[in-house]
Amino acid sequence: MNPVKIAVLVSGGGTNLQALIDAQKAGIIKSGEINLVVSSSPTAYALERAKNAGIETAVANKHAYSTRKEFEEALISSLEEKGIELIVLAGFMYILSPEFISRYKERMINVHPSLIPSFCGDGFYGLRVHEAALAYGVKVTGATVHFVNEITDGGKIIMQKAVEIQEGDTPETLQKRVMQEAEWIILPQAVEKVSKDIINGGTI
Ligand code: GAR
Repeated sequence: MNPVKIAVLVSGGGTNLQALIDAQKAGIIKSGEINLVVSSSPTAYALERAKNAGIETAVANKHAYSTRKEFEEALISSLEEKGIELIVLAGFMYILSPEFISRYKERMINVHPSLIPSFCGDGFYGLRVHEAALAYGVKVTGATVHFVNEITDGGKIIMQKAVEIQEGDTPETLQKRVMQEAEWIILPQAVEKVSKDIINGGTI
């Protein structure tokens, strides 16, 4: 069986992309293969990571298009050109339209740096999520990988992992621990699980 063709959509540093690349090399991801990395920013370091791993890259810069529709159509073209079957949002800082999302129903997953349904939804991304967790005073946070539907961070949960908050944590130290102890572990595992399910044609 051919591996599922995966595109990873990124916007920044791409540490989650790196975790996926490493997991593919280590054989943790074997039912899928990263065929394309698309960045919403031309200067994202994630693009370097993809190039270093010999993965094809594309830039979908929304500022280069006059409408959201045109931007998303260009994105769809690059995905279709490569025959992409599974999209992984790994720090992709752009809310896709309901039309785009319905096109990739149960074929698009996202990693979010909290235990959904806490600290998620519109406005909760990157460091803001950890700032909110610390401000609330929760003692446990974590990460979630979920399918993407039309509700921001509202799709069916695939995997979650808890991370303890420590005395003296700052948003930055917490972000790093959540990445190391949760995101970089469950994202590759979830990608393998969903890829396997796609190959088996079973219900997800
Ligand atoms: C990650 O922590 C990811 O969970 C978060 O952005 C960071 C990207 O880091 N995503 C969201 O907040 C989405 N709502 P990376 O570019 O190093 O992978």
